[in-house]
Amino acid sequence: MAEFALPANSKPKGGQTHPVTGSGKNVKTFKVYRWNPDDEANPSIDTYQVDMDDCGPMVLDALIKIKNETDSTLTFRRSCREGVCGSCAMNIDGTNTLACTKYISDVDDEVKVYPLPHMPVVKDLVPDLTHVYAQYTSIEPWLKSASTAPERERLQSPEEREKLDGLWECILCFCCSTSCPSYWWNGDRYLGPAILLQAYRWIADSRDEDTGSRLDNLEDPFRLYRCHTIMNCTRTCPKSLNPAKAIAEIKKLMVERRG
Ligand code: SF4
Ligand code: SF4
Ligand code: FES
Repeated sequence: MAEFALPANSKPKGGQTHPVTGSGKNVKTFKVYRWNPDDEANPSIDTYQVDMDDCGPMVLDALIKIKNETDSTLTFRRSCREGVCGSCAMNIDGTNTLACTKYISDVDDEVKVYPLPHMPVVKDLVPDLTHVYAQYTSIEPWLKSASTAPERERLQSPEEREKLDGLWECILCFCCSTSCPSYWWNGDRYLGPAILLQAYRWIADSRDEDTGSRLDNLEDPFRLYRCHTIMNCTRTCPKSLNPAKAIAEIKKLMVERRG
């Protein structure tokens, strides 16, 4: 698995150590990135020792245990705790993934937990998603149709519906975009793999009638063409999706329509 750079505003040093509470027979050490915008201190790495005899199996279980029992100031996002909301995305053991589906036992040594790389940090493990959501809005992620609405739903054949497989499952966790070197360096203008996969999700939808302007919106040296097929995105996606393939499909459509 690829290792990724630290968050944009990090130069963390050693921070506090929180020793284990409980039996202390089966202890796992977690090294967690900390940064608080409300004090003057630099980012730091806090050390937490967790009693694994009294903890669930996932990294998110350990973070919740730390927050509940050891250090209520530790800040992270989570909601569904089963890999469907995308909010617990972070960098664990050098890889972007979901804390709620990452087994602690998959990490041999200390568990290193950082925010998603190359994003501004709001606090601790919480990245600022303002920019990436503005990019999401820019692709108009909703069905657009000028024809008269049918009395009931807009139908698709099984074959048309199948074209959305591998796209609709995206949970917008941004593990892919924050693993993409092109997005690290050009994220102000390049849309990145998550947003381009979403753009293709609407282009590929047989019910959508705005393909032409959707492609016009992407025909730009930066918004689409900064993808250099490095494939980190596809290697990283915790839902096993293939954003690089979706991007390639968009590029193919661009060539086809040029004739
Ligand atoms: S394939 Fe494209 S989007 Fe994916 S990591 Fe590489 S450059 Fe980024
Ligand atoms: S493509 Fe995968 S990694 Fe990227 S946002 Fe969607 S679910 Fe997350
Ligand atoms: S808490 Fe929802 S994906 Fe992890």
